[in-house]
Amino acid sequence: MSTATTADVVGTAQDRVDGRRKVMGAAPYPIDVTLPRMAHAVLVQSTVTSGRIRDIAVDAAERASGVLAVVTHLNAPALARGPSTPLGPSPVPPLQSDAVLHDGQHVAMVVAQTRDQAQAAAALIEITYERDAPVLAFDDPRTSPVFHPRTPDTARGNVRQALAAAEVQINQTYTTAENTYNPIGLFATVAVWDGDALTVHDTTQGPHGVRDALATAFGVDPGRVRVLVPFVGGAFGAGLRVWPHVTLAALAARITKRPVKLVLTRAQMFTSVGHRPNTIQQVSLGASRDGQLTAIDHVATSSIGMADELFNPITPGTVDAYACPNLSTRATQVRLSIPIPGWMRAPGEAEGSFALESAIDELACALGIDPIALRVKNHAHVHPETGLPWSSNALLDCYRQGAERFGWPARNPAPRSMRNRGLLVGYGMARAALFAYQPPCNAIASIRRDGTAVVRSGATDIGCGPYTVMTMLAADCLGVPIERVRFGLGDSDMPKAPNEGGSGLTGALGNAVQAACVDLVRAFVNRVTGDEASPLKGCRLEDITVRDGGIQITDEAARFETYATILARHGLDEITVEGASAPPGETSPATMQARSGRFVPFTPPSTAARAPAGGYAAHFVEVHVDPDLGTIRVARIVSAVDGGRILNPKTARSQIIGGMAGGIGMALLEDTVSDRTGRLATVSLADYVVAVNADVRDVDVLFVGQPDSMTAIGTKGVGELAITGMAAAIANAIFHATGTRVRSLPITIEKVLGRS
Ligand code: MOS
Repeated sequence: MSTATTADVVGTAQDRVDGRRKVMGAAPYPIDVTLPRMAHAVLVQSTVTSGRIRDIAVDAAERASGVLAVVTHLNAPALARGPSTPLGPSPVPPLQSDAVLHDGQHVAMVVAQTRDQAQAAAALIEITYERDAPVLAFDDPRTSPVFHPRTPDTARGNVRQALAAAEVQINQTYTTAENTYNPIGLFATVAVWDGDALTVHDTTQGPHGVRDALATAFGVDPGRVRVLVPFVGGAFGAGLRVWPHVTLAALAARITKRPVKLVLTRAQMFTSVGHRPNTIQQVSLGASRDGQLTAIDHVATSSIGMADELFNPITPGTVDAYACPNLSTRATQVRLSIPIPGWMRAPGEAEGSFALESAIDELACALGIDPIALRVKNHAHVHPETGLPWSSNALLDCYRQGAERFGWPARNPAPRSMRNRGLLVGYGMARAALFAYQPPCNAIASIRRDGTAVVRSGATDIGCGPYTVMTMLAADCLGVPIERVRFGLGDSDMPKAPNEGGSGLTGALGNAVQAACVDLVRAFVNRVTGDEASPLKGCRLEDITVRDGGIQITDEAARFETYATILARHGLDEITVEGASAPPGETSPATMQARSGRFVPFTPPSTAARAPAGGYAAHFVEVHVDPDLGTIRVARIVSAVDGGRILNPKTARSQIIGGMAGGIGMALLEDTVSDRTGRLATVSLADYVVAVNADVRDVDVLFVGQPDSMTAIGTKGVGELAITGMAAAIANAIFHATGTRVRSLPITIEKVLGRS
């Protein structure tokens, strides 16, 4: 039994508490769930992009061996559309009409005893379509732009006048490609009904969202629906929405009265769980000759499905990026005959920062000013819209420390001036920021008679590390050794948590876990403060320190008692307390900060006094480009990151490295390509190329900054910081290496050689 003090596990590099189970193959993913009498569902998808189903012949499929049901729009029951969540709308439910709106739309489902039987029967279904001409281009006259209320136009000052008067102007157009998530694990749903009670194992980033959507679809009480996802695997945002196949799996189970498993194929992963929509963006910058920004204009257009309302936050990051008096942003979406998009890896921010940070680099070149110096000169010392000081902002330290670590001073600013063994060498950099996002969250914490702590919340872990960091946070907060703390998640019967998304879960969940744990200690203090038999008699929360599975009066080591002793004396098996967190600035339950086992009241600054800050980063990239072949290698990346308080430098670093890999993919490789009819041409990992280990070489992460002042645990999101700005940093490095400015992602050999 450990006697070491447990205080301050937080802040130290800890291995993943779930790592061993993962590498041993013992972590249960939804795809691994097998139940007695389980049947298998297979989806048939449209092979046209736009039109309607004239005829669908299912007789042969229905007669095929092992088939239990064939479901089409002709026999599917009405399914209500799920509710919108804070992150966005539910997709339109499947199999509700003969209309085909995109390639890969689910048009039939076969349920059979085995997956092979379902697959074989599905191949027997014959469908005749009436085809319409799909809408595939932003400038197609049949479309009209959609303005989403969540991305309103913004303006300050007079951007048109300021641009006209600017001594130096940049006006450029940037494009980003459609990207597809491609987690290695295929998305799977296993559904089983017991009367009107539904249990679902689903690859999702938010079990409560799935619960609510399915309850609505089938008209049952949400309390009768349970969604389980103890392990998700990679998701990258693909699990943020409740996709039609999830509803279909539950429908299959309902119709056949058997448990049903539905696993998407790799090809179906390209059309069934969203994608990053493509964008075209115009950025205009105005500046004085000495590099003072006077105008920023950012106009973004991105694609959206024919029947969907997902917003795409491309321009919000531009609004508060720089201290510039004149600014305008406009974001529109254009409906195309495409599978409906989702949010993918810093949705909007990744695309918007590519355009803005490329344009800033172009401005630096036009002015002959160092790109870091230009950014420092235009740093937003306060929030540029409101004039409020930031709740925390160490971006200047990111520039300074990152440049030093990278060796930026060795850069010769002239393009094509640096070489290494015949290769062109380029150094590029970019700024990155994430909006502050901390949705409401709940958690529940118990200490049991055996001295163990159990903390739970219906969140998910898509690999970012909540299992680990929440265990650490609870250990510190309760003074219980980390190996005696169990953190549970991935169950909609647990307290409601937001999706793991928007890089906001650590803040939301961490504050809820801390609130629950502080109140749990308070509950023990309340038990003993009037207890004649306790050495802690008379104590208050402010007087105590937690350590070694118990409580002591601070500075009086002898006045100590374990939780287990207290529970035993009071004849209790456990004490359990719920806690909640609210977004910074909103009315939050009174909370305490727990640091080094002690408890101090947390008094956040009033909303009027501070602008909530998200994370910041500066990315530095070295590329090597073959001057003859145009091949590009990212040789080295240094990211200096202000993520506020870093709970676990090891898992936080892993998140940044993951973002770097995504950034390399977005910049150089990833491209979801459609043919002239709108059908996807890249539906395998052979055609859709992602960054692999060989593409991710020398990567270095340094954390700078201080705990954020607006939230009790002091964190800011880090997950999506590395992909934000990374494509621009790579593009800027490629320009420096080659003298060729590529404004269109992905940056391919042909573009670098000027052949496309
Ligand atoms: Mo992320 S796209 O917020 O899962």
